[in-house]
Amino acid sequence: MSETSPSPHHPITPSPFEIDPAPHGEVIVVVDGSALARAAAERFARVVEHSVSERGEAFVALSGGSTPKQMGAILAREPYRSRIPWDRVHIYWGDERWVPLGSPESNAGEAKRGFLDLVPIPLANVRAWDTGAETPGVAAAAYEALLRRDFSVAPRFLPRFDLVLLGMGDDGHTASLFPDTEALAERELLAVANFVPKMDTTRLTLTLPVLNAGREIIFLVGGPGKADTLEAVLAGEQTAAELPARLIQPAPPDGKLTWLIDEDAAASLPRRSP
Ligand code: 6PG
Repeated sequence: MSETSPSPHHPITPSPFEIDPAPHGEVIVVVDGSALARAAAERFARVVEHSVSERGEAFVALSGGSTPKQMGAILAREPYRSRIPWDRVHIYWGDERWVPLGSPESNAGEAKRGFLDLVPIPLANVRAWDTGAETPGVAAAAYEALLRRDFSVAPRFLPRFDLVLLGMGDDGHTASLFPDTEALAERELLAVANFVPKMDTTRLTLTLPVLNAGREIIFLVGGPGKADTLEAVLAGEQTAAELPARLIQPAPPDGKLTWLIDEDAAASLPRRSP
């Protein structure tokens, strides 16, 4: 467990867990789901403030799923609503489902309804995947072009998000990089349509190169259902194709990976002998 000075916002419980953070970055264990959301909101704010002070803007890739929803609700309230320079923040999604924005399954739709529509962020700064396009492939190509335009990067270069927020499924997927799916092998494109056989559906996802280019990559993992998978991911068990979250490795020299997890998700991690 890396030593982390507890912040007033989310004191870090001294960890009884024996986790070698080296290959995985920093592992921070907080007591429960609401502490996880508070810690995530504070991290979001700090990364955005640092990026804006350094580069005048902050580019963030949000994850989907349920975990980040509580974080969003906190960001929509004081002090974060006033503290964060929303006009300098640019929001993207690491992945999206092939559903309309109005669907409760929509990552962008849920984030807009849960917090982005409640904070003073310019509409033009919120960059959802176009799930109204004629096909997922067309939507992915459009998102790739949008990324290259927004980050002004030429082919062969990678856009660097200041913050990449990721969740992890109990099968080890992250973003919409599911085990044994084609997108895991993509090393050229930034954004692809990825057919997921076990769900019989096509998802939209950023690819490993652009996710790993993130300056700060933060996994938010909570709940008992993730405990065994998290242990397998951090212990380096199974192949990375079986546990795609293991493929998230920030780029040296300044890429940083943090696992923000709650006690329930940490339950299967090896514990230090007393
Ligand atoms: C999605 C996500 C996905 C999510 C994990 C964890 O579109 O569902 O991007 O990768 O982060 O499935 O989801 P929960 O937070 O709901 O457990």
